[in-house]
Amino acid sequence: MCGVIGDPIEHTLSPTIHNAAFNHLKLDFVFLAFRVKAADLENAVRGMRGLGIYGLNVTMPHKSTVISFLDEVDPTVQFLGSANTILNKDGKLSGFNTDGVGALKALRENGAELSEKKVLLLGAGGAAKALAFALAEEVGELVVLNRAAEKARELAEALGRMFNKKVVGGSLSPDAIAKNLRASDILINATSVGMKPNLSQSIVAPQWLKSDLVVMDIIYDPVETKLARDAKAAGAKVISGVEMLIYQGAASFEIWTGRAAPIEVMRRAALNKLSSAGASK
Ligand code: ATR
Repeated sequence: MCGVIGDPIEHTLSPTIHNAAFNHLKLDFVFLAFRVKAADLENAVRGMRGLGIYGLNVTMPHKSTVISFLDEVDPTVQFLGSANTILNKDGKLSGFNTDGVGALKALRENGAELSEKKVLLLGAGGAAKALAFALAEEVGELVVLNRAAEKARELAEALGRMFNKKVVGGSLSPDAIAKNLRASDILINATSVGMKPNLSQSIVAPQWLKSDLVVMDIIYDPVETKLARDAKAAGAKVISGVEMLIYQGAASFEIWTGRAAPIEVMRRAALNKLSSAGASK
């Protein structure tokens, strides 16, 4: 058994994606969603050992607090202070964070070249931090802009020092976005702006977008955000949040099963679920 823990948890796509993959590969696994309140987190994680639960995904609000209940965490989790994947190997619980590798894979598998490129990342929350950590090592230059500018500056300073790269942090002002976009190759929205139900919101004015940009939004509901629509209209290459969702899920899947994840099966399952959920609302 594998599963996902969080609160709330009813909108998670993880069971859909992982059960589709398990079935496709005929693996003797099942994936369930558990609503776990903060006060029950320690018991839930201990229960992995008791019940022989092989792997868990961890989502809001437990990604940080879960770390103290694990036996070991990888260097990414140490830097980020958050884990989204637990592996139970013979009772030893290891923590990983697959958001960053998932984002890199989503970019690369969709044709985005990273080395020597200038990337503009909007946001400095949990997901943005995971992306920034993964990107800083790979790209030529990284600019992180956030509404709470201090968070972006601190993150940029830490990453610049760590990877000996140009990493700049600043405020999410229209001027800063417009100016940085002119020199950027890749734009990533890692804020929650544009997420359902705010379908008409975008931080980036359409006239700042250009055809030689790659634009990735980490929001997957809606599958196409206003930013994605605007970017497409400007002729840019667009990568949807479903891609990051799938590739971070695939990375967890590979940690648990040791098998290559069936990406297309997972993508189809996620898109089917998203379109049927949208239709029923
Ligand atoms: P996640 O785990 O999805 O990254 P999070 O850690 O709460 O969630 O981060 C949300 C991100 O969206 C943050 O960068 C947040 O900016 P602040 O750090 O300034 O709060 C950003 N965000 C949320 N609402 C926003 C808004 N209306 N305008 C701009 N940025 C916003």
